[in-house]
Amino acid sequence: MSSPVRRPVAVLVGTMGAGKTTVGELLAERLGVGFLDSDHVVEEQAGKSVQEIFVDDGEATFRTLERDAVARTLATHEGVLSLGGGAVLDPATRDLLADHDVVFLRVGLADAVKRVGLGVGRPLLLGNVRARIKQLLDERTPLYEGLARIAVDTDGRSPEDVAAEIVGRLADA
Ligand code: S3P
Repeated sequence: MSSPVRRPVAVLVGTMGAGKTTVGELLAERLGVGFLDSDHVVEEQAGKSVQEIFVDDGEATFRTLERDAVARTLATHEGVLSLGGGAVLDPATRDLLADHDVVFLRVGLADAVKRVGLGVGRPLLLGNVRARIKQLLDERTPLYEGLARIAVDTDGRSPEDVAAEIVGRLADA
């Protein structure tokens, strides 16, 4: 007999400051399942922080580790999974995601900047947080929109409110 297919109940995507980790943890709690964040999976594997990987080894190495971590986790994790904001840049990852319940957390520039603050621990934001987030939003929003089965607005909303909407919409989907 073949073993049942394992898959996350929801895969959260969106840019830095969209609230993927906070909302993902709440959503997992509400659904009574586990939570994983691809950045943490990469950090465990590498034995160092995302920031240290960017500094010591460079972004290309981080992206390779991230692609492997996402592929592995999509195939084994049955809870909620949040992806680092740039994971969708990889075409192989996008192909894998086509088969999953992807939830895009939308955020506008002002709220994203507010939530990210000084960008501590986020190497891609070094220098000018606002300008970098604007650039990332412009470049990546079409990718997130293209992958999402569900898109949720997060501007001005609490993580609890966003998680509750996702629970309802997953049930309807
Ligand atoms: C990145 C987002 C980060 C982390 C890394 C690169 C990106 O994750 O993966 O710093 O390219 O947008 P969060 O979106 O969880 O902050």
